[in-house]
Amino acid sequence: MNIELRHIDKRFGAVHANNDINLRFVQGRIVGILGENGAGKSTLMKILSGFQPADSGAILIDGRAIDYTGPIAAIANGIGMLQQDPLDVGAFTVLENFIYGSGVGLNLQRAQAEARLGELSGRFGFALDPHQPIDNLLIAQRQQLEIVRLLALGVRTLILDEPTTGISAEQKEVLFNALRQLSHEDGMIVLLVSHKLEDVIDLCDEVVVLRAGCMVGRLDMPASQDLNSAIIAKTKRQLVTMMFGEALDAQSRPHYELDAPVLVTRELVAQDLRLDMQPISLTARAGEVIGLAGLGGSGQELFMRACARLERVAGGSLEFAGRDILGASYRQLFRRGLVFGAAGRLEEGLIAGLTLTEHTALVADDNLQIDWKAMRKQTAARIEQYRVKGSADDNIEQLSGGNQQRVLVGLLPDAPKLLIIEQPTRGLDVDSARWIWTQLLERGRRGAAILFSSDELEELVTYSDRIIVFFAGRVHEVADVSATSIDELGYLIGGEFPA
Ligand SMILES: Nc1ncnc2c1ncn2[C@@H]1O[C@H](COP(=O)(O)OP(=O)(O)OP(=O)(O)O)[C@@H](O)[C@H]1O
Ligand SMILES: [Mg+2]
Repeated sequence: MNIELRHIDKRFGAVHANNDINLRFVQGRIVGILGENGAGKSTLMKILSGFQPADSGAILIDGRAIDYTGPIAAIANGIGMLQQDPLDVGAFTVLENFIYGSGVGLNLQRAQAEARLGELSGRFGFALDPHQPIDNLLIAQRQQLEIVRLLALGVRTLILDEPTTGISAEQKEVLFNALRQLSHEDGMIVLLVSHKLEDVIDLCDEVVVLRAGCMVGRLDMPASQDLNSAIIAKTKRQLVTMMFGEALDAQSRPHYELDAPVLVTRELVAQDLRLDMQPISLTARAGEVIGLAGLGGSGQELFMRACARLERVAGGSLEFAGRDILGASYRQLFRRGLVFGAAGRLEEGLIAGLTLTEHTALVADDNLQIDWKAMRKQTAARIEQYRVKGSADDNIEQLSGGNQQRVLVGLLPDAPKLLIIEQPTRGLDVDSARWIWTQLLERGRRGAAILFSSDELEELVTYSDRIIVFFAGRVHEVADVSATSIDELGYLIGGEFPA
């Protein structure tokens, strides 16, 4: 199967999301789709997979022009896209979802379907129990289910939009190995949208780069047997230059004089039914940045939420700005300068259906009388300051992922005492990620203590004064971050704590 995109064009109002894109994808190749936040990557992939029509242009499969009417038509033509939130139905089991989504419905015997599911997941080492309810699955397992479902439907091109967000390193290896088999052994086309340049260099055969809606370059990736740290660094520099039009300097951060303790936990135990949380004693001082590392579900999220009074505490004490806060609500603490930022952008932090201005109004005050004119003005100023691609009256879900993240950070108060923030740069391009950190550190300079979690080891090592590693509810502190390599941190995250 070969795909050709000819003169694909798409506008959203004033935004030229895809500007006359011409591309060819040939079978047996894994192609990375790169570009800064808002470059038009997701738009192009949605057009190719039938989730969105182009304004003009043509898609040719093996030389034949295809007229899409939706994702089902795209799948019938062999092109399937892994949705960030797969359309699974909670009450169903894995097997029911596999059958339901496969279109064959009742014609396919359950036993037959189960055998097919087992065969496909066995081949790729996917851990899918057919009788598990979908609700119980991890993000990585939902992805795996969606992949086998699309394969059962006969897809020959698989599109993945930022699939490594929120999955562990181990799960990522399983996913990447499956993608290698599908392309290199079965001759499928795999298209991968990602901001993680190491992943792209590791997995892809070539990349295409979009900038401001235009296709600006194409580059072959070094062969996997040639990969070493020098080649990876060189390729990263090349990619960054293509994406942003210039090279970026190495990251570093200023360190501030640490001041009075802002957050003090003594033997704090966050309550959880599944995890046996160890008591944690931690002091965060004004100006300090503490990174929380660990695989998803290792206890760091619980600990952060317990500190923000969003989760129950089973024991120990908790002080903020010198006062016991075990009896306080998050709402009260927010007014006193404790701010929590959630990782799930559209699930928790932002509200789909509301405009940017309405978000500003939400966090502004408890004042019942909303001054919309002032709110719109304030929103416009934030858009300018945070260089958000979007306008005050846009609904939040119209923004690209990275721009949603900018809005979320833009909604944080200017001078909090304590910032507890999950995955601050998830889904951001390299340049935006640095820029978000400049904004966070500026709050540190003004005296905020910052507690953040991240899946990115480089981010943890670059920005933390100290790192607390979580594994199965236990913790290990890395006090001297500069003496710790990314590899060492990786082992710690895997639970190999020194005795
Ligand atoms: N449904 C929509 N309505 C209005 N504007 C949209 C819509 N979808 C995308 N856009 C705009 O089109 C541009 C390209 O968005 P797209 O989501 O394709 O970017 P992206 O490259 O995937 O970015 P990111 O890396 O942040 O995910 C952005 O400026 C975005 O705001
Ligand atoms: Mg996107």
